[in-house]
Parts: sequence; C-alpha cells; structure tokens
Amino acid sequence: MSWNPATYLAFGGQRTRPAADLLGRVPLESPGRVIDLGCGPGNSTGLLAARWPAARLEGLDSSPAMLEEARASGVPAGWVLGDIAAWKPDAAYDLIFSNATFQWLTDQAVLLPRLMSFVRPGGVFAFQVPVNFDAPSHLLMRETAADPRWRTKLSQARETERGHGAVYYDWLKPQASALDIWETEYLQVLEGEDAVYRWVSGTGLRPFVQALEGEDREAFIAAYKAKLNAAYPRRADSTTLFPFRRLFVVAVKA
Ligand SMILES: C[S@@+](CC[C@H](N)C(=O)[O-])C[C@H]1O[C@@H](n2cnc3c(N)ncnc32)[C@H](O)[C@@H]1O
Repeated sequence: MSWNPATYLAFGGQRTRPAADLLGRVPLESPGRVIDLGCGPGNSTGLLAARWPAARLEGLDSSPAMLEEARASGVPAGWVLGDIAAWKPDAAYDLIFSNATFQWLTDQAVLLPRLMSFVRPGGVFAFQVPVNFDAPSHLLMRETAADPRWRTKLSQARETERGHGAVYYDWLKPQASALDIWETEYLQVLEGEDAVYRWVSGTGLRPFVQALEGEDREAFIAAYKAKLNAAYPRRADSTTLFPFRRLFVVAVKA
C-alpha cells in the first residue's frame, strides 16, 4: 500500500499540530538518543530536531516515498527504511516518539510493550493515534465500502486499528513509572473543495481506493465524496469544519 507525501502534506499544518502537542508533554531535558517511528515526510521529526538540536536523532519509516521526502526536508536526522513491527534496536533510546502511525500496526498488545522495552530507564515512550472511528468520515467510508457493487473486492481492505486509553494503560503500566494519557478533539478548519475527501485520501482511505480499479474506483470515490460533502457542508466563509479526535500517550520508563 503506497503513500503520497504531497497528498499527505496538503494538510501538513493540521497533521503536525498533534505531534507538537504530544512533544509538549514529554518530560525530558536533553535526551541523547531519539527516534521518530513512522516519521513520514519528516514533519514530526523536524519538531524533535528543533527541541533537541544536540540529540542523536533518527526517523524510521517503511515507505521509500515518504523517506525520500524526509531526506529532502533538510531535517538533521538519520533516515532508516524499516518496518516498526520487526524493528529491534541494538541499544536503548532516551525517547521513542511516534505521531499518527501506530493505527497502521496490528498485534499492538505485543508490539507496544516491546517498543517500551527499548526505552532506557527514565526515558520516554510517547505516541499519538487518531481515534475518530465513529465520526461521519469513517462511518460513511464503511457504508460506501459495503455497497454490493464493490463489497467483495473490498473485503480485504481494512480500516486502521482502534486505540483505547485504558487498554494502552494496562499494556504499558508494568514497565512505566508514570503514564499521561489524554484525548483531544481538534476542530479542523479545512480550505477548498472536497476538503474532507482530500484529507482522508492522504491516509485512511488509501486501502479502499487502492483495492479498486477503473470504473469501480471512480464510482466508489464519487459515492463517498457525495456523502462526505453532505455530512460536512462548506460554510458561508467557504471553509469546511472537520472535527478530529486523537489519543495521546506519554509513558515514562521505570
Ligand atoms: C500518517 S503518517 C505519519 C507521518 C508523521 N509521523 C506525522 O506526524 O505526520 C504514517 C507513517 O507511518 C508509516 N508506517 C505505517 N506502517 C509502518 C510500519 N509498519 N513501519 C514503519 N512505518 C510505517 C507510513 O509509511 C507513514 O509514513
């Protein structure tokens, strides 16, 4: 499943804001070794570089296109092509950071404690995931995908994983001395036509669109777009308001 950095970065400001909010709650003065898992085009990694210019910083991602964009960003980090699920560092980190990525990973009950085990004592594991599964954008995606015209072809296309604060608490608590977990709903103000469609095209819609071809793809997109535009109408000032809920976790390693 491929990523398009330009489509993703069309809303770069709104997508990076939660990374800044997460980073604001990381209680570290001067971490030596820092990694951004699922660094994408380097937008979240850039925040880490700005806060700790002296840190040894890395960004890891499984998308060559995203990493190419990250390299071109000028953010001073080592860029690593890799799969988070298989990642096994040779030494512990002061900070393992991840913004808007773990929703793409399965088996999180094993994965997240494993990642926490790669943090040194006193270090931090901090991540953010979207939790807007019951928003019209997601409900309508599921409803459109259930249309008999393409239901069979989309049977393997999966939605992203659902995170729950209390579940993350239970998984990480055995290794944590402190856990700070919260949710925020951003009232995002989007510009232009088909704004919510363009937002989801850069992320959660990709598995559905990429599973279809030709006329099916066109018809699916037209049907979904029409539903989205009815659910999120443009306002008198021509903007579209797109409420978006996100879950944050900052775990300090015992
Ligand atoms: C929504 S983007 C987040 C980009 C950036 N961190 C940000 O704050 O906007 C998610 C990124 O996670 C990467 N990703 C998804 N699954 C991954 C995996 N198993 N291993 C490594 N990277 C992965 C994708 O390639 C994509 O660049």
